[in-house]
Amino acid sequence: MATQDELKRMAAEKAVELVPENEYIGIGTGSTVNFFIEALGKSGKKIKGAVSTSKESSALMAKYEIPEVALGDVISLAVYVDGADEVNHMLQMIKGGGGALLNEKIVASASEKFICIADESKYVSRLGKFPLPVEVVPHARSLVSRKLLAMGAQPELRVGFTTFNGNQILDLHNFYIDRPVSMEDEINRITGVVENGIFGHKAADVLILATAGGVKVLKPGQEAV
Ligand code: A5P
Repeated sequence: MATQDELKRMAAEKAVELVPENEYIGIGTGSTVNFFIEALGKSGKKIKGAVSTSKESSALMAKYEIPEVALGDVISLAVYVDGADEVNHMLQMIKGGGGALLNEKIVASASEKFICIADESKYVSRLGKFPLPVEVVPHARSLVSRKLLAMGAQPELRVGFTTFNGNQILDLHNFYIDRPVSMEDEINRITGVVENGIFGHKAADVLILATAGGVKVLKPGQEAV
């Protein structure tokens, strides 16, 4: 039986097939994306350049000689490839386990097509078992925490972690996400919240899900089983 890493690699390799040549692309962050960067680099496929969402992804891109470009230097990106912490059948996601949610949402929003790559452990019927990351301005943290508590969440500070943008992360436990789009908005309306990890507005366009039965390429609304 395939290990989780083998499944991640299978999803990543399939995603390389969907990357168009001679275009700019966006590249997310995380262990599944690391397999994608390696597979893209080894494939010899020529892209114009890629916008990265983290120092970790940039370092790996450099290792595999994938040219990096700044978001400000491109008009749009043909595709954005990233993992997820959870994804549902509408291809809405929780992201930000690695703390790069703001950069990921910005780069995803600049992309024409979002390809999510995941192993089957990430596929859920309801989002929220994975603690939802919320990026907050540090001095507003207590205020924001009280408002999130009033919404029924249990916020926990990610101790010792600062985001790329100098902010902190609150991870929301026991917070089930029945209405991804409206709950994404409700959290972002709290003053002091910079962004949260619900990708409801910007759901993926394609999910490449690696399962024990093989790799599935799914569209929103298409069930995996
Ligand atoms: C990074 O901030 C996250 O959004 C990642 O995309 C997500 O956590 C998936 O990471 P893995 O591929 O390591 O599970």
